[in-house]
Amino acid sequence: MPLNIDKGLAGTVAADTALSFIDGAKGVLEYAGYDIDSLARSSNFEETSWLLWNGRLPTSRELAEFGSALQAEYALDPRLIDLIRTIPRTAAPMDALRTSVSAMGHFDPEADDNSVEANRRKALRLVAKTPGLIATFDRWRKGKPLAAPDSSLSIAGNFLWMLTGARPTPAMERALDVCLVLHADHGLNASTFAARVTISTQSDMYSAATTAVGTLKGPLHGGANQEVMEMLLEIGELEKVDGYINGKLARKERIMGFGHRVYKAYDPRATYLKTFARQVASDTGNLPLFEMSRRIEEIVLAQPNIIEKGIFPNVDFYSATTYYSLGLDLDLFTCMFAASRMSGWTGHCIEQLAANKLIRPHADYTGPRGLAYVAIGLREDAATSRTSPSARQTMSVAAGAKSSSM
Ligand code: ACO
Repeated sequence: MPLNIDKGLAGTVAADTALSFIDGAKGVLEYAGYDIDSLARSSNFEETSWLLWNGRLPTSRELAEFGSALQAEYALDPRLIDLIRTIPRTAAPMDALRTSVSAMGHFDPEADDNSVEANRRKALRLVAKTPGLIATFDRWRKGKPLAAPDSSLSIAGNFLWMLTGARPTPAMERALDVCLVLHADHGLNASTFAARVTISTQSDMYSAATTAVGTLKGPLHGGANQEVMEMLLEIGELEKVDGYINGKLARKERIMGFGHRVYKAYDPRATYLKTFARQVASDTGNLPLFEMSRRIEEIVLAQPNIIEKGIFPNVDFYSATTYYSLGLDLDLFTCMFAASRMSGWTGHCIEQLAANKLIRPHADYTGPRGLAYVAIGLREDAATSRTSPSARQTMSVAAGAKSSSM
């Protein structure tokens, strides 16, 4: 079979999915057929998760039952809380989340049951408990008493309650909820792909979710929202935006929160978020930050060739100011992305197992072949006399590549 190299798998279709549809050229995102903009305006995270897992909108009874089932799962096993207390307070919250999502599996008797029913129950638990995992670690690292969940609240409301120990205003709850809706699923993005690879080995959902959290962490993926905020704080004021951004562009540095592997038009998640972020920033006295973001967008989009390259703000650009306006620490931003994407990751795991095939691509081997084994006592002499230093370096890299392809 002829093999094509597709670095970054940009042109490879590796799965079927009924969760979300993306048209990157036109800037369209739909969850199970529903446009993301209408969901962000009218739906909520609970309903969106149900939609992703069932392929249709729920009836009011189904939604009420689903909401209650989620609320019944907010509480964390006390042994899991003890385990979170052993994570160093200095740990990055995304690392702590990776550990605690993994640890959750120890306390779920169904962890290794890959039946559809058990996986749906685990998906529900993961979505219900992830905000609590994040809030618990954050309060622990700050030396604050832990807050028990409030099962009368929505997922967004309960998270803010567990994080701050104060009842969120409806506006705060709604702001976080919109972000959760917007981030819930996105085709075969890197972390979802990683989750599907893991579950395709018939591993378990906790392992897949752990893989996904680790993959989301990187700044080219979910970690970008934190970097956007760091950039805004580094710039500090509107007057300094032009010099800062033009300097970065002149040095050919990337502007965080811009560009996307799939979208070559305006990220449809950023459209509503931009308007919404302005409102949240205005309500919370953070309008100057929004104005800086807007100016950055103007400068970047005015660059020659930038539109041709398809560089526009992505969802992370305006979610950064929204999270900041809600009072979240910068290193929690990517955790919020994870709390939302958990519904997509788990939905994809169930979908992958429904028509499973082990995901196992090829690597193009670039090292030497057919070498004669050299006894260790003779190796240095043999190696130095027969190959150049750069060739030896290639050989050791190739040896690593060979073993990792097993
Ligand atoms: N700022 C400036 N230029 C950019 C940016 C950016 N943020 N992103 C891409 N470009 C330019 C590149 O320099 C390159 O230009 P060239 O052709 O002249 O060399 C061109 O656009 C294509 O870039 P690639 O890296 O090949 O595009 P790719 O599709 O691989 O990258 C990515 C997508 C990784 C998201 C990239 O746009 C990026 O690094 N953005 C910043 C990080 C970020 O915001 N990530 C969040 C993504 S959204 C999410 O995960 C939810």
